[in-house]
Amino acid sequence: MKWKVPLFDLNLEQAEREAVQRVLDSGWLTMGEEVIAFEREFAKHAGAEHAVAVTNCTAALHLALRALDIGPKDEVLCPSLNFCAGPNVISSLGAKVVFTDITSDDDLCISPEDAAARITPRTKAIMVMHYAGTPCDMDAFHKLAEKHGLRLIEDAAHAPGASLNGAKCGTLADLACFSFYSNKNMSTGEGGMITTNDETLAVRLRHLRSHGMTASTLHRHKGHAFSYDLIEPGYNYRLDEMRAAMGRVQLSRLEGFNAQRKKMDECYRTWLDDLEGISLPFSSHRGKPSYHIMPALLSPGIDREDFMQALKDSRIQTSIHYPPSHLFGWYRKQKPDQCLPVTEDVTAREVTLPLFASMQADQVELVCDVIRNYLEKREKAA
Ligand SMILES: Cc1ncc(COP(=O)(O)O)c(C=O)c1O
Repeated sequence: MKWKVPLFDLNLEQAEREAVQRVLDSGWLTMGEEVIAFEREFAKHAGAEHAVAVTNCTAALHLALRALDIGPKDEVLCPSLNFCAGPNVISSLGAKVVFTDITSDDDLCISPEDAAARITPRTKAIMVMHYAGTPCDMDAFHKLAEKHGLRLIEDAAHAPGASLNGAKCGTLADLACFSFYSNKNMSTGEGGMITTNDETLAVRLRHLRSHGMTASTLHRHKGHAFSYDLIEPGYNYRLDEMRAAMGRVQLSRLEGFNAQRKKMDECYRTWLDDLEGISLPFSSHRGKPSYHIMPALLSPGIDREDFMQALKDSRIQTSIHYPPSHLFGWYRKQKPDQCLPVTEDVTAREVTLPLFASMQADQVELVCDVIRNYLEKREKAA
């Protein structure tokens, strides 16, 4: 399918190509000076003390939980309106995933009130997710964490560059995890980062990222170490130099990307504002979002598949973010009768419209025209 308006489009220029070429010419392909520089620049941009580069955000979330010693006796809260990576890593460590509802059909982030009601003596952490790049209500989550002695993790896959009360996502919890997967605000193909202000956690993350070893190949190459010890069993979650070099360029362009996304978000809100049958969540944004995706909610009774097909017929790509995690077969087996009313209502009506940094206003206009025609035709037929 040749889309007139794709859901997402990459934004790569000569600078990214030159960065990758520079690495290929250097003769050092993984965990070298580019990774070190990417970590330093990412930490500075986020305002965090430490940044640890990893292969992807799923690995970042896994390491974050390992660094907090989450294991089989623990419960971890996370939203069901989520990509499956968060719940899956909690589950894979033998801990219990406690799915939590979202706040409303306007605020699609995890609800602090519902979270409070799900805390038990076994709860060890809350993994919030800044849905669509709007920061969660972190003041409320900090109060909960303090009251119950819990650790907080940000799944910030949608939220590089977003901030709340002047502090960037990446500094709003004990640990924060980012994704540089192709369709994210910054793209390196695969790639991830963990930020923290806790030095002890940062040291442990660096060990766990590379098998639990105390010295890297670069250390030995530079003559800083002859051998190494193994502190605890870890993983190979190392990032390569090509992706780090690309990531540095994408990071330097991130604020511009997010500003363009914001403009497109405003166009959608202006042109869909008076239209019956569709609404745009986050009508009053909390903090400064990163505008990762453009979720829209169809009014009850509108057939979502038919709506998406109408856009597809006009060569406009849409998606769904996300099917509710608590209703996936695996999680339903663990807790067959769980009901999260707000999540279930929203996930049945959500459609994600195209949004990307190189998108132009005339593309948003086209999407909105097709939506308007569809909804007005439907109204007349009723
Ligand atoms: C909210 C969220 N968390 C985690 C991930 C996993 O990221 P990665 O693909 O980098 O492992 C994604 C990826 O789509 C995501 O959207």
